[in-house]
Amino acid sequence: MTSQHDVYHFRDASDGSEWWRSAVIYQIYPRSFADASGDGVGDLRGIASRLPELQDLGVDAIWLSPFMTSPQKDAGYDVADYCDVDPIFGTLADFDALLAQAHARSIRVIVDLVPNHSSDQHLWFRQALESAPGSPERNRYIFRDGTGENGEHPPNNWESIFGGRAWTRIREKDGSPGQWYLHLFDSSQPDFDWSNEEVKAEFRRILRFWLDRGVDGFRVDVAHGLVKDQDFPDYTPNPDSASMGGEETPAPYFEQVGVHEIYRDWRLVLEEYDGDRALCGEAWVSSVDKMALWVRPDEMHQTFNFEYLLAPWEASELRSIIHRSLAAFSAVGAPGTWVLSNHDVIRHATRLSLVEESPQGSGIGPDFPDVPSHSEFLPRAHAATALMLALPGSAYLYQGEELGLDEVHDMPPEVRQDPTWFRTKGHRYGRDGCRVPIPWEAGEPAFGFNATGRSWLPQPERWRSLARDVQQGDERSTLSLYRRLLRLRKQFGMGQGTLEWAAGYPEGVVAFRNGDILVIANISASPVTIPADARVLAASMPLSGHQLEADTAVWLELQGDI
Ligand code: BGC
Repeated sequence: MTSQHDVYHFRDASDGSEWWRSAVIYQIYPRSFADASGDGVGDLRGIASRLPELQDLGVDAIWLSPFMTSPQKDAGYDVADYCDVDPIFGTLADFDALLAQAHARSIRVIVDLVPNHSSDQHLWFRQALESAPGSPERNRYIFRDGTGENGEHPPNNWESIFGGRAWTRIREKDGSPGQWYLHLFDSSQPDFDWSNEEVKAEFRRILRFWLDRGVDGFRVDVAHGLVKDQDFPDYTPNPDSASMGGEETPAPYFEQVGVHEIYRDWRLVLEEYDGDRALCGEAWVSSVDKMALWVRPDEMHQTFNFEYLLAPWEASELRSIIHRSLAAFSAVGAPGTWVLSNHDVIRHATRLSLVEESPQGSGIGPDFPDVPSHSEFLPRAHAATALMLALPGSAYLYQGEELGLDEVHDMPPEVRQDPTWFRTKGHRYGRDGCRVPIPWEAGEPAFGFNATGRSWLPQPERWRSLARDVQQGDERSTLSLYRRLLRLRKQFGMGQGTLEWAAGYPEGVVAFRNGDILVIANISASPVTIPADARVLAASMPLSGHQLEADTAVWLELQGDI
C-alpha cells in the first residue's frame, strides 16, 4: 500500500494555463445562495451581489448548479430549455452580467450541464408524446413497449434513483394506454437516447451556446449514466449502496463503455475554444481507478473524487484513498479533484461525526440518532477541510461550508421538497437538509439571504450565530480558517504541489509533505507531538504548545530538514 517513497508531482500551472489542475472551485446552489428579488428563491443578481465576498474568501472559480429554464421538479436538474435562464433566477442578460463581473474579479465560472435527461416540459419530450411510437420525435428518448399481454407491465424492473419504478406509461394521442419511457430519476425527467445522433448534435450545440457566452467549463451531471445497456436486462441494486451508483458490478444504466466516446467528442468541441475551458464529470463509480477512466487525456479534465467524499474519518482509510487517488489520477495525467460536500450529500460537518451511516442521497431526519451539535462536530469539520485543502490538485467547496453549516435534519416534513422524499413516501429524507439558504448577516431578514425574509426552505435559528458577518474578523471562526487556508494554499503553490508521506507518526495520524509544508492531521483520540522547530502556518483549532489534539490538523513550514 502506502510507501514512504511515493511522490506525486503535478504539472505547474503557474502561467495560468490548465487552471483547473489546482483550482479551488466553489459550488453555488443558486436557489439558496442570495436572493436579490426577495421571492424566497436565490437568483443570478443575488450571486453577482456577493462576488466581493467570494473574492475575499479566495476561490478561483464558481460552479453554478442549474439555472436554466425548468419547472423545478428536481430543483433545476429537470431542464426544459438548455439555452435560456429560468425566470426565477433572472435572464440571460443577468447571466452575462454575472459572468463579466466574475471574470473582472478573476473568478472563473463553470455551469452545470444535464445531458442524461431533460424535463418532461422540454419541447422534444412534448413532441415525443404527440408523435407515434417509432417516430424520430420519440426516438430522442427511451420509449419501449411494455411487457405482459397488453403491455401493462414495464419493460424491465429498473428502479428510479429517487425511489419507485424507472418507467412511466404514457397515453397515446388517441387516449389508449401506450408505451413506457425510461426515467432514472423523477418521472418528470425522461432519459435521452444517447445512441441517437440528433441528441449528440443537440448537446454539441448547447455546449457551444455557453462556450460562446464565455463560460470556463461545465460540470456534467450523471456523467456515468448517459449510455444504457441496450439489452435492458433486469437489475436490482444493493439497497445499502450509494443511490447514484458505485457498485463493483455496475448497473446496466451506469458506467457503460459508450459514455467515454461522448466526452471525447465534447473535448474536441472545448478545444475549438481558447481560454482553457474544462469539463468536470459527476461519475459515481466505485473506485478511483474507475474514476480515472473519465479523465484520460482526451476526455474530461476533472472528475469528482467521490470515494474520498465517502471515506470514513479514519487515518488508514484516508491514507489509502489519498494514495490510491494520486496514483490513479497521475497515471492518466489528471489532477486529483477533492470534495467533501455538495448539494446531494449530508454536509460534511455533520456527516463526519455521525455515529450511524446514511447512504448517499438518503439524508437524515429528526429521528436520526445522535446528530452532533455545532460544538461537537466543529473540530473534525475543520480538520477535514484543512486536510483536504493541503492536498495537491483541485478542490471543490460547497456554499456554506466556509461558515461551518450543519445538515438541517430537523426541518418539518411539510416543507421538504426533494422528489426522493415524495417518491419514497418519506422513507428516505433526501437532500433538502444541505440545501437551506445560507446566512449572511445575523440581524437581517432571512439572515441577509434577501430583504423580505422569505426562504424556500426555512433557515434554523441556530444559524444566526453562524452568519458571515458574525464570523468576519473573528480569527477563530470557520470563515477565517477557510480564508487563511486558501491564501496559504495559493502562496505555497500547494495545488500544483507534490505529496510525500511523512514517516515517524502514529498509526492514527495522516502526515505528509506538500513542498515545504508539513501537514499533520490527528485522526486518533490521543494528542500527538508536532515538531517544535517548525513554524505554524495554520491550525484547524487553537494549539496548546506542541501538542496536536484529537481531530486537529496543522500546516507547518519546514525550517531545515524535518
Ligand atoms: C444531481 C442531482 C440531481 C440528479 C438528477 C445528480 O447527480 O447532482 O442533484 O437530482 O443528478 O439530475
